[in-house]
Amino acid sequence: MIRIIKTLTIVAAIALSTLAAGAESGLPEALTEVTKECVGCHAEANPGMYQQWGASKHYGANVGCYECHAANKADIDILRDGIHDDYGIATIVSPLDCARCHAQESKEFLNSHHSKAGRIMGSLDNMLAEVVEGNNGMVTPMFPAGISAAAVNGCWQCHGSEIRVDPETGKLDAATWPNTGIGRVNPDGSEGSCTACHSRHSFSVALARRPENCGKCHLGPDHPQYEVYQESKHGIAYNASQDKMNLDSSKWIVGEDYTAAPTCATCHMSATKTQAISHNIGLRIKWNNRPPISKLSHETDRKWNLSSASITADTRREKMIDVCLSCHQQTFVDNFFIQYEALIDLYEDKYAKPGLKLYAAATDVLKTDPTYAKFNHPIDFTWFELWHHEGRRARHAASMMAPDYTHWHGTYDLAKNWLSHYIPEIKEIIHKYEGRENSKEQVEALKATLEEVQNSDGWKWSINKEDPAVKEAREKRQAEFKERYK
Ligand code: HEC
Ligand code: HEC
Ligand code: HEC
Ligand code: HEC
Ligand code: HEC
Ligand code: HEC
Ligand code: HEC
Ligand code: HEC
Repeated sequence: MIRIIKTLTIVAAIALSTLAAGAESGLPEALTEVTKECVGCHAEANPGMYQQWGASKHYGANVGCYECHAANKADIDILRDGIHDDYGIATIVSPLDCARCHAQESKEFLNSHHSKAGRIMGSLDNMLAEVVEGNNGMVTPMFPAGISAAAVNGCWQCHGSEIRVDPETGKLDAATWPNTGIGRVNPDGSEGSCTACHSRHSFSVALARRPENCGKCHLGPDHPQYEVYQESKHGIAYNASQDKMNLDSSKWIVGEDYTAAPTCATCHMSATKTQAISHNIGLRIKWNNRPPISKLSHETDRKWNLSSASITADTRREKMIDVCLSCHQQTFVDNFFIQYEALIDLYEDKYAKPGLKLYAAATDVLKTDPTYAKFNHPIDFTWFELWHHEGRRARHAASMMAPDYTHWHGTYDLAKNWLSHYIPEIKEIIHKYEGRENSKEQVEALKATLEEVQNSDGWKWSINKEDPAVKEAREKRQAEFKERYK
């Protein structure tokens, strides 16, 4: 037994040096001996995994189990489980591991918002998962004091966990793995996960180019990009023409290798006749529509110290327009962006800016109560959903040509919830706290803010102060419309 282990150690050492040389001058000319050992056990034990790898481009290039799973001696997650101790492997294959052969893709990815998506622990949403929705009921060896199962099964599966390792065996803690969240924090300190998009063990680009791939995370009430795409003309064209999309081609330039429809990757990552593929998905977007008020993309890049912060939002808009021009003509595209920008302005002027002011003033009132806690009042949820759900939906849908989401799930919901929840809840707070000695000043300030908002251009109609001429013209049109169904 001891002799066998020794032989394996020597084989492993040779393979590592071949790999190091191979990364510079080419790849192994055949499957390495170590990989054959891995296959010897795993082909039978896990035929699905083996077949996916066996049908992959990696197999064709002699990139085997060991070439990806090889670990450094110092790695804390090097497996010491009694089976693999002498191979020097780890379960996690981080972006730094892929970077040994795919340096450019890894560099771009590590410099994008995707790899930073695990940095959400301080966010408002995180308080929801850990406190408001969750508890500390999930206890594991690395979380003796417990952790919220809502975070583990929810947020972390999209954003990424901070992987924790059993220091004795190198095995991964159950609260933190399985996890391929896109901004996962790996045991080697790197951020992100390439498998978030490149399903193992096929690692196929065809799969990565499909909209469903992005749709694992980009969907739902607060960022329905996948649903938005499905209802857009682009999604319709894609669904009707999947067989013409040439998804398996290694070269995939819009306008040359396919023209039927754009997928998410086409607009946000893939090559055009003048642009190379980029794994930084932020390089073609002007706006970051996630905060209550949209921010320019280079400004939010600066926050994470991304090197792409030097590329201005306007340059990025040009890059996106370049994609559109593969299929559309300039005026069409320019006019489209004027429409989209107008929707951002509408949302901000009518809802976001006055909404933020009202929320701050209402919170000041609520805080005069010693039992105050955030998210213990209806207005906390109402305001959160106004900007975080409806306000984002309207902007996301307008940016990607989905009229139903822009309107019925966007501006309509904004108006409905503003008038039937937000304003009534503000009035209720005024009513409840008016007359309390210690909240006098705060209530007066809230009343003044409400007065100001209700008399603003966007809202004065709701207190019957609309310009009479405008009102009269509308009522005339309404009367004419009614005639049709008499
Ligand atoms: C002697 C048979 C055998 C060989 C050789 C072998 N494995 Fe395994 N491997 C197993 C078994 C059995 C398990 C399941 C372990 C368990 O249940 O704790 C496993 C589990 C794993 C895991 C998951 C470990 C975890 O707990 O997270 C990885 C990754 C892995 N093997 C990769 C490899 C690679 C890469 C090689 C080649 C360097 C290899 N294996 C060689 C039998 C083998
Ligand atoms: C191109 C790189 C690559 C190759 C080649 C590769 N793997 Fe993996 N493997 C990964 C990645 C990435 C993961 C996901 C682990 C993580 O969460 O980072 C993974 C996960 C695993 C797991 C744990 C996940 C599960 O579903 O059980 C096992 C076991 C495993 N690989 C074994 C193998 C074996 C055996 C081979 C060879 C037949 C192999 N791998 C080849 C990259 C690779
Ligand atoms: C030892 C070198 C090596 C490592 C490590 C490696 N790859 Fe590769 N990978 C290659 C080579 C070589 C090819 C090209 C194969 C070809 O075109 O025939 C390739 C191709 C690919 C492709 C394109 C597949 C397609 O369908 O065209 C993807 C995606 C990919 N790798 C992702 C990854 C990811 C993600 C990792 C880390 C989990 C990784 N690779 C690790 C060498 C490697
Ligand atoms: C957001 C999803 C996503 C993530 C995360 C991602 N990729 Fe990709 N990757 C793609 C898409 C989509 C393509 C296909 C681009 C094309 O050909 O149009 C691709 C293509 C590739 C290719 C094929 C070569 C090329 O440039 O065309 C390689 C290699 C690759 N990715 C490696 C990686 C590595 C390594 C990582 C992690 C550092 C990674 N990818 C992370 C979506 C992703
Ligand atoms: C279904 C996957 C998914 C789940 C579950 C999820 N998120 Fe997200 N989250 C996303 C995506 C995708 C974005 C980016 C949306 C966009 O760009 O429009 C995002 C954006 C965010 C942002 C804004 C980040 C920034 O810097 O702009 C925060 C904060 C956030 N999520 C926190 C959380 C928390 C905390 C949870 C759990 C309570 C959670 N998310 C659950 C997918 C998810
Ligand atoms: C595993 C989850 C996941 C997958 C899969 C995923 N994303 Fe994301 N994406 C996120 C999260 C989370 C964020 C928000 C990151 C942040 O800023 O904190 C995000 C942000 C973005 C952004 C905004 C970038 C910026 O610079 O502001 C774009 C664009 C994007 N994703 C496009 C894509 C596309 C296209 C795909 C598929 C090819 C994809 N994503 C796949 C989770 C995912
Ligand atoms: C026809 C091109 C096109 C397609 C297809 C497309 N997008 Fe977009 N996407 C855009 C444009 C344009 C914007 C807005 C850019 C700006 O603000 O300048 C955008 C913005 C985004 C953002 C930023 C949202 C934020 O919160 O700031 C994300 C995330 C995103 N898209 C993801 C996706 C996903 C996922 C898919 C597929 C389901 C997809 N996109 C399909 C063109 C496209
Ligand atoms: C690969 C080709 C392709 C690319 C790239 C592309 N589109 Fe389209 N676009 C189409 C097709 C096909 C339609 C559907 C036309 C139809 O149904 O009449 C369409 C429809 C549209 C529509 C709906 C127009 C209508 O008459 O209802 C708008 C708006 C639009 N695209 C804008 C854009 C913008 C903006 C971009 C870049 C961010 C873009 N497209 C990128 C192919 C493309």
